[in-house]
Amino acid sequence: MSSSSSSLPLNFVNSSSSSKLPLRSIPGDCGSPFFGPIKDRFDYFYNEGRDQFFRTRMQKYQSTVFRANMPPGPFMAFNPNVVVLLDAISFPILFDTSRIEKRNVLDGTYMPSTAFTGGYRVCAYLDPSEPNHALLKRFFTSSLAARHHNFIPVFRSCLTELFTTLEDDVSRKGKADFNGISDNMSFNFVFKLFCDKHPSETKLGSNGPNLVTKWLFLQLAPLITLGLSMLPNVVEDLLLHTFPLPSLFVKSDYKKLYHAFYASASSLLDEAESMGIKRDEACHNLVFLAGFNAYGGMKTLFPALIKWVGLAGGKLHRQLADEIRSIVKAEGGVTFAALDKMALTKSVVYEALRIEPPVPFQYGKAKEDMVIHSHDAAFEIKKGEMIFGYQPFATKDPKVFDNPEEFVAHRFMGDGEKLLEYVYWSNGRESDDPTVENKQCPGKDLVVLLSRVMLVEFFLHYDTFDIECGTLLLGSSVTFKSLTKQPTFDHNFFQLPAKLGLRMEFPNPKTKRIPKSENSLGFGFINYKKNNHNKDEKQRRKKKEMREERGDAERAAVSPSGGEHQGRTCQF
Ligand code: HEM
Repeated sequence: MSSSSSSLPLNFVNSSSSSKLPLRSIPGDCGSPFFGPIKDRFDYFYNEGRDQFFRTRMQKYQSTVFRANMPPGPFMAFNPNVVVLLDAISFPILFDTSRIEKRNVLDGTYMPSTAFTGGYRVCAYLDPSEPNHALLKRFFTSSLAARHHNFIPVFRSCLTELFTTLEDDVSRKGKADFNGISDNMSFNFVFKLFCDKHPSETKLGSNGPNLVTKWLFLQLAPLITLGLSMLPNVVEDLLLHTFPLPSLFVKSDYKKLYHAFYASASSLLDEAESMGIKRDEACHNLVFLAGFNAYGGMKTLFPALIKWVGLAGGKLHRQLADEIRSIVKAEGGVTFAALDKMALTKSVVYEALRIEPPVPFQYGKAKEDMVIHSHDAAFEIKKGEMIFGYQPFATKDPKVFDNPEEFVAHRFMGDGEKLLEYVYWSNGRESDDPTVENKQCPGKDLVVLLSRVMLVEFFLHYDTFDIECGTLLLGSSVTFKSLTKQPTFDHNFFQLPAKLGLRMEFPNPKTKRIPKSENSLGFGFINYKKNNHNKDEKQRRKKKEMREERGDAERAAVSPSGGEHQGRTCQF
């Protein structure tokens, strides 16, 4: 095991020692049925804040397992009482779908109206014991598998847009709001992946991310505080946490999204129908998958990734750039095989997912009476009780990870890979795979891949960058202050195919074969295929070339100060 891991035996959870732990009654008090939950809600949002809420109770009860109420409570949740899990050992009980029911618990102790999803309970709200779960999850998994050759090229083309905007904003305004730019990129990527066209070619135009964000906000408002000083807490609490916000506010927005997907994802919806799923049900599920699961997840993931890499500073940037550039050069491109060889880049992605898991809450109801274990005690849970895991504490468990609050870039390299079984961001262990029997995210491998490609592209383009960061409603905010361009790397080598209207095709990692098609040109082990959905790409490139003619030199370091390294800043 690496120096960054503790001496905990990795099979601790299943070891016989856990059965010898003392049985302890679960500490904690949920208070009276009405005032208890309201008091906890105020402590959680206003008096203590999220992390402090859990920390004070963990210290008070001297236990990582205790009882509390989780927001929203009255009048939105029928029963807000939960058993809280805060350590890496008890947390995985939530992944055991033979003992935990995952019906309608995606958002916690309340469920938004199905009017937000066309009247359907979509896949993420279904328990694996419901037959529709397997059908829908199989549909998603096969749709992803069929598109796997597009993952890297489509994402890279979306990143090219992201970099153009980032550079423009930094050079014009002296700063760039990464969250907004990343949100647009994520929406474009998800839409292009499933619909084979840029959303700007549909009635959505560039409005897709705004429509989804409004729709997400109304569903997740009970879990959010706006943190506005001019809005009294009592008023905010009444507006966001007491009664469900009506779906009527976003009815027309949702309709626009639904129609755009319905019109553009015909081949995907044909696949769904051939599997026995009704076309409209498949489309509502697709909107949820694209908007809530994928876009919603990326909305918090990418800023968190860039935040931790940005704050780690120049030394890590140099190490990443060295690894990425040498492997890309040796492998001849950004391929699955090249990405797989980047040990540091891989570790950095896992470390970001560990230290700031994009979806911090997991819920499940006990299907039977059971005994669960923390590091030092066993606890009895009764059938029907709601169990809640707060993931940022579980994946920063000091008994599993050394320096858990520190971003340790190389944590998962070498022997450290064994610690991946304690990385839970996908609602399962990183060492496990999503199946139709479990509730693990079917986008797990795609998400890890995209995060790697994002770092690869960053360090193919730039040597280093400076950021400022803060917090937003659902995660971190990142503002770029400067970007220092990589002066010597030959971007043209990798951009030439796109300039010629060709798109790269990569070997299937299983068969190691390049897909054969009529109009593809063999070029080493990458194929270049005539690109016929590339209009937006051409326009973007033309704009970029015109800008470059206007004065590329002054942008060699895209920084208000001419590229000088500004030093790190962070506004927490
Ligand atoms: C950064 C991006 C993503 C994050 C952080 C994320 C995270 C998660 C998590 C935590 C869950 C489990 C929720 C629960 O039951 O408690 C989940 C489920 C799910 N995710 Fe993802 N996800 C991401 C991207 C994606 C993508 C790209 C797809 C599909 C293409 C996807 C599809 C799904 C689906 C369908 C489920 C429900 C699984 C089931 O019901 O068994 N997600 N995701």
